[in-house]
Amino acid sequence: MKTTPILEIRGLSKRFGGLVAVSDVNFSIAPGETLGLIGPNGAGKTTLVSLISGSITPTTGDILFEGASIRHLPAFQRARAGIGRTFQIMKPFPGLSVLDNIAVGALFGTSTTAKALQTAREEAREWLELMELQHHADQRADELGGPDRKRLELAKAMAMKPKLLLLDEVMAGLNHAEIDDVIEAIKKVRRTGISVLVIEHVIKVIQRLSDRLLVLHHGQQIIEGKPEEVLEDPRVIEAYLGRRRA
Ligand SMILES: Nc1ncnc2c1ncn2[C@@H]1O[C@H](COP(=O)(O)OP(=O)(O)O)[C@@H](O)[C@H]1O
Ligand SMILES: [Mg+2]
Repeated sequence: MKTTPILEIRGLSKRFGGLVAVSDVNFSIAPGETLGLIGPNGAGKTTLVSLISGSITPTTGDILFEGASIRHLPAFQRARAGIGRTFQIMKPFPGLSVLDNIAVGALFGTSTTAKALQTAREEAREWLELMELQHHADQRADELGGPDRKRLELAKAMAMKPKLLLLDEVMAGLNHAEIDDVIEAIKKVRRTGISVLVIEHVIKVIQRLSDRLLVLHHGQQIIEGKPEEVLEDPRVIEAYLGRRRA
């Protein structure tokens, strides 16, 4: 018997006025799989993430999470069902410590009794250590920079115990050494068995993290397959890589 995909996208389109930002997209993500999503600026990648997380509604098509349609669920119910995301521009709770920022994630969906708060802090500490942020535990979150801030964002998202994590260009603003650092952090996240949709400009990130790759161009999916095959496809080189080499 075939396992039910964690996520299945069926004929999904999103129109903004005269612009079709996402056009008849179809794909699925298996439990534990990491799917990489690439494409030039304006290809519709972030729109696709917003459709999945529920901050915008599709024009046509359906989104199935663990086999059931979530198309009509508001964003907070999708988060509760197990869809987690990070944001391209991260917003920590500035006055809170690094540890408590993660604890806020762990509190999601629980009550706010003293006991729940204590459990949340304990869970937060596990993610704090896994993301190697223990030396920053009591620092204010907005004092963190570079890769530490990205690791905090990952820890916060993971503390909410998602089954599917949506990562939209988390490497933005990092240098090469810092990117390697955050790749390792994402690998730790993957080892928990979670499914991941990773959007990234930096090709080495996609190569090192993705089990499978999907390319969007002008809202349309132009190819899907193994990363090494996709990255050598002439259509991809023309649409995406060629422009960067030029
Ligand atoms: N809320 C919106 N209203 C109107 N147009 C939008 C909106 N969001 C995105 N777009 C447009 O949709 C297209 C895809 O954008 P986006 O999904 O952000 O691309 P990507 O993340 O691949 O760079 C772009 O042309 C963008 O200008
Ligand atoms: Mg984007």
